[in-house]
Amino acid sequence: MRKKIVAGNWKMNTLVKEGLALASNINDELKNQTLRNEVEVIIAPPFTHLTSVSEVVDNNKISISSQNCATECCGAYTGEISAEMLKNIGCRAVILGHSERRAYYGETSETLIKKTEQVLKNKMTPIFCCGEMLEEREANNHFKIVETQISEALFHLSEEDFANIVIAYEPVWAIGTGVTASKEQAQEMHAHIRTVIKAKYGNTIADNLTILYGGSVKPNNAKEIFSQPDVDGGLIGGASMKAESFIEIIKAI
Ligand code: PGA
Repeated sequence: MRKKIVAGNWKMNTLVKEGLALASNINDELKNQTLRNEVEVIIAPPFTHLTSVSEVVDNNKISISSQNCATECCGAYTGEISAEMLKNIGCRAVILGHSERRAYYGETSETLIKKTEQVLKNKMTPIFCCGEMLEEREANNHFKIVETQISEALFHLSEEDFANIVIAYEPVWAIGTGVTASKEQAQEMHAHIRTVIKAKYGNTIADNLTILYGGSVKPNNAKEIFSQPDVDGGLIGGASMKAESFIEIIKAI
C-alpha cells in the first residue's frame, strides 16, 4: 500500500536545546492524535541534533531523517558524515538532492547516484528531491527537467531498490517563498512523475511510490494539496519549525 508521509525539514535552524524542545512538543502533540496506519511522520533536524532528538521522541511514531549524507562509505573525507553513521544512530531516512544543495553545494545527478547508493545500502529511505526553477516552468520545461532529474539519478536502480525510494517534488519557486503550487500544478506534476515511473518500473512500483509535495505548505493550504490523488504527503520547511503548525499539517493528511 502506498504510504503517506509528512516530513519536516528543519534545514540549518535551531540549536540543540531548541531542537529538543521542538521535537518533544511534536512528540507530545502526536500522542493525542490517532493517525491512520499508513501515515508516517518524519523529522529531519541538523546532524548535531540527531542522536539527542531520537532519544526524546517515540520512535514508533516519529522517524528521524538526516538532510544529507556523504557520497562515500568511509575513509579520508574530512567533514563528511556517512550513511552508515546515520543508520547507526537510528536514522530511517535521508533527504537527498534538495534544491538548496543542488544550488549552493553543486550537487549533480552523479553526486546523487552515489549518495542514493549509500542510503539504500544502509537500508534507509532516500527522500529524493526534484523540482524546476521558475524560468524553467515559464519556458514550459518543467516536466522535462523533473523527469531528467529523476531518470539521471535513479533509473539505474533495480526494481527492488527503486521500491524503497520516496520522491519529493519541490518546485524551487515555491520553497520558502510563501507561493505554493496550486493543487492542479502539484497534481499534474505528481501524475507525470508516476507515469514516468510506470513506464520504467511498471504499474505496481509506480502505484506504490510515495510522492511528496514541498514548497510553502502551511496549515491553511495542506488539506487542499494533500487531497490530490497523486500527492501522498509533504516535505515541510518553515511550517515544520513550530509544533502546532506541523501537527495541523499532519492532521490534514
Ligand atoms: P518551505 O520549505 O516549506 O519552507 O517552503 C520546503 C523545503 O525546502 O523542503
